[in-house]
Amino acid sequence: MTHRRRKRLIAGNWKMHGLRADLAEVGESARGLRDRQDRLSASGVTAALCVPFTLISAAAEAIRETPLAIGGQDCHPEPSGAHTGDVSAEMLADAGASMVILGHSERRRDHRETNAIIRAKLAAARRAGLLAIVCVGETEPERDAGAAVQVVSRQLRESLDDNVDASNTVVAYEPVWAIGTGRTPTAAQIAEMHGALRALLKDRFDEEGEKVRILYGGSMKPENARMILAVDDVDGGLIGGASLKAESFLAIVDAAL
Ligand code: 13P
Repeated sequence: MTHRRRKRLIAGNWKMHGLRADLAEVGESARGLRDRQDRLSASGVTAALCVPFTLISAAAEAIRETPLAIGGQDCHPEPSGAHTGDVSAEMLADAGASMVILGHSERRRDHRETNAIIRAKLAAARRAGLLAIVCVGETEPERDAGAAVQVVSRQLRESLDDNVDASNTVVAYEPVWAIGTGRTPTAAQIAEMHGALRALLKDRFDEEGEKVRILYGGSMKPENARMILAVDDVDGGLIGGASLKAESFLAIVDAAL
């Protein structure tokens, strides 16, 4: 698989799950990846766990000298200031994170995050040297109305700024109706959306748009990972529930190798 144009990223999103006792799973995932170091290097596959803010420092300690990376799940656009309860991109980096999820549908829903807010956070992530994973995805009514590609295309256009490149930004397509439901789109539906997103990226960023990775997320698990990863323009996965346990997370990484 060394000929792949884009190196796959398998990223876990722990959402609001995880106490210090669960750091054992981070350690186990990290050790499992260390055991796969040769195959990871040969294939260029990278893996990360995006854990709650409270676990970032300890998780960063637990993954030292292993191929696993640690990320956050949100950041504030400003580097510091009077924003009670918020965490900046600089703070995430300082705690040991190397990436951050932005614009997840749960934040768009729970915190009314708009594309403009996500764009500001994207600039913040870049300023702090974090890889940004920008999420887009349609709801079920939007898909039923035949508007999925249109909705997701608009999210992508408005959430990205002109300074995106493949080294600072990854896109994640996560259909809202597939998140935590056990339902997944068909390979054809995934191919249609990833193809549309790729066309948009190429149109806006020329050759660089060909290099930006597009992950799939939504009920991805060991049983369907191989099928999903085989779809054109799927460059990895953003995994919720199945990333909480090292065994299932590593099984998905194996599907990417
Ligand atoms: P699940 O894998 O639990 O469906 O969650 C997907 C997701 O939202 C990842 O960001």
